[in-house]
Amino acid sequence: MTETRKNALIVGASRGLGLGLVDAFLKRSWAVTATQRSPSQGLAALASDALTIETADIDDDGAVTALHDRLSGQRYDLIFLVAGVATQAHDPAHDVPRDVAAQVYLTNAISPIRFAELFRDRLNGSGLIAFMSSILGSVSLNESGGWETYRASKAALNTLAISFEIRHREEGFGVALIHPGWVRTEMGGEEADIDVETSVTGMADILERQVGKAGIVYLDYTGETLTW
Ligand SMILES: NC(=O)c1ccc[n+]([C@@H]2O[C@H](COP(=O)([O-])OP(=O)(O)OC[C@H]3O[C@@H](n4cnc5c(N)ncnc54)[C@H](OP(=O)(O)O)[C@@H]3O)[C@@H](O)[C@H]2O)c1
Repeated sequence: MTETRKNALIVGASRGLGLGLVDAFLKRSWAVTATQRSPSQGLAALASDALTIETADIDDDGAVTALHDRLSGQRYDLIFLVAGVATQAHDPAHDVPRDVAAQVYLTNAISPIRFAELFRDRLNGSGLIAFMSSILGSVSLNESGGWETYRASKAALNTLAISFEIRHREEGFGVALIHPGWVRTEMGGEEADIDVETSVTGMADILERQVGKAGIVYLDYTGETLTW
C-alpha cells in the first residue's frame, strides 16, 4: 500500500491554507510531510502514520539545508510552497518601512524560489512544484490597487517562477502558481469569500491533475487560468 501512495511536501502548514491542504491530501490517501516554524496544534491533531511533521523557517537558509538533508531519502510527487506573509499590506508602499517591505519580498518571493531550487532533486521524476501565489500577483488584473507590497511580492514570485521553470525545463517537472481564492484565514480575514475547505478541495483537485504535466500554469482554485 505505502509504496503506491503519492507523496507531498507541504511547506508552511502550521495553520490556514497549509494546514487545510495537509488534511485534504491525507484524506486522499497521500503520504504528507508538513513543515511548521514552531509546534502547531493543528498539525499535531492530524497525527497518523501517513503524516511526517518537520520544522523549518523558509527564510533561514541553514534550517532549509538541514531539512533537505533530513529528507534525503524522500521523493515527492508534489512540493507545495504555501508559506507567506502580508505584513502592513494595507499601507501604500511609500508608508511601509524599507525593512518591512524587503521582508515581505524575501518571504513571499525569494525564499520559496530558493527552497524550490534546492528541493527539486527531491521530486519524483515528473513531479510538480507548486507555489502559493495570488490573483493579486497578476499585473494585468490589478484594477483596484491596494495591497501594494504584497501584490508586488506575489508578482515577483510569478516572475521568478517563470524563470525557474525555464532554467530547469529539460528536467521534466511541472510548475504551478496557484491562487487559492479569497479565503477566511488569519491572512484573508473573516470577510473573505470562501472557507478553507472549499479552497483546499479545489486546489487538491487541480494539483492531482497537474502532477506529471511539464511546463508552467497560473491557475485559481477552480482551475481557471489567470492572466499574468
Ligand atoms: N487567505 C487568502 O485569502 C489568500 C489569498 C491569496 C493567497 N494567499 C496565500 O496563501 C498562503 C497561506 O495563506 P493563509 O491565508 O493560510 O495565511 P495564514 O493563515 O496567515 O498562514 C500563513 C502560514 O505561513 C507560515 N509562514 C509565514 N512565514 C513563514 C516562514 N518564514 N517560514 C515558514 N512558514 C512561514 C505561517 O507559519 P506560522 O504559523 O509559524 O506563522 C503560516 O503557516 C500565503 O502564501 C498567502 O499569501 C492567501
